[in-house]
Amino acid sequence: MKKKIEIIEVGPRDGFQSVKSDCCLISTEEKMTVIDALIDAGVRHMEFTSFVSPKAIPQLADSAEVTRAALAKHPDADLFALVPNLRGAQNAYALDLRKVCYVVSLSKSHNKANINRTHEQSLEAYQEIRRELPDLDIIVDLATAFGCPFEGKYEEPERAVEFLKDYVDAGMKTCCLCDTIGIADPAQVRRLITAIQAAYPHLELMVHFHDTRGLGMVNTLTAIDLGLTKVQSALGGLGGCPFAPGASGNLSTEDLVWMLNEMGYDTGISFSKLLAAAKQQSAAVPGQYSGHHICIQQETPCKA
Ligand code: COA
Ligand code: ZN
Repeated sequence: MKKKIEIIEVGPRDGFQSVKSDCCLISTEEKMTVIDALIDAGVRHMEFTSFVSPKAIPQLADSAEVTRAALAKHPDADLFALVPNLRGAQNAYALDLRKVCYVVSLSKSHNKANINRTHEQSLEAYQEIRRELPDLDIIVDLATAFGCPFEGKYEEPERAVEFLKDYVDAGMKTCCLCDTIGIADPAQVRRLITAIQAAYPHLELMVHFHDTRGLGMVNTLTAIDLGLTKVQSALGGLGGCPFAPGASGNLSTEDLVWMLNEMGYDTGISFSKLLAAAKQQSAAVPGQYSGHHICIQQETPCKA
């Protein structure tokens, strides 16, 4: 039997947040068109918006509308949203979302730049959310897990292992290691995942790589080789944190699906339908779509 890999699409959150709202405000309808097309392609797991300050991320200011529409249309999909604080979690919960990812950066300076909190404040907010909303499923997104735009690369795993202890003690079940600026390399990925698996054997790990240096795919494959079955990517390779200077796009879902399907993994996603979703996205986000992927792949005979 084929081994299953859960691809978690993050484009509607990480991708859309990176599109400047002054030049291209993506409408709720356009967002839904892309979300619908992704679901139609077989995507079952999606980080589809965020509940953050609309001043910080104007592009996702319609998260309530998107949530209502997405939950009504796709009640069986595994949909979740990013939250930075209790307020975001409460807003998501009030709209019947029962799963979120809570973001905190390993880098103190990026945590401050991104969500204006110290590490202590972020831990307190996480504990508060767990207390206030005990039936909310929370993935902890560890941003800058491999390095930071202000502090450089974290070669050794000890910093992350030590940082995660408080979250494990507070009940964290799932952690996503996010390479926010695309600085990781496969040897570092191996060191970090191995160290975390040894320290916290019951902690479920996911990965999220940006493709700044073209290593998103090989880093993801390294994580899969180490036993991870849940990996994140974004349609069209769109993405990047506006508060991390130099951050570029995510690993593209098309590339990842193509590779994993060819390798004999079961992703449940149709490559050709994914290309159709990418085309719809490029219509909604003119000039932003990294057409590179779609051009190459359209010339390749495709069996999915
Ligand atoms: N959703 C919507 N609005 C929120 C909010 C939330 N979850 N949390 C706070 N706000 C609003 C407040 O009401 C306040 O609004 P006002 O200026 O109209 O009065 C404003 O945001 C500032 O609130 P404050 O609590 O002082 O927050 P802050 O200025 O310290 O900013 C965050 C903290 C977390 C709200 C903000 O930095 C943020 O939203 N960051 C998200 C960044 C992000 O999404 N990055 C990419 C993903 S990794
Ligand atoms: Zn990201």
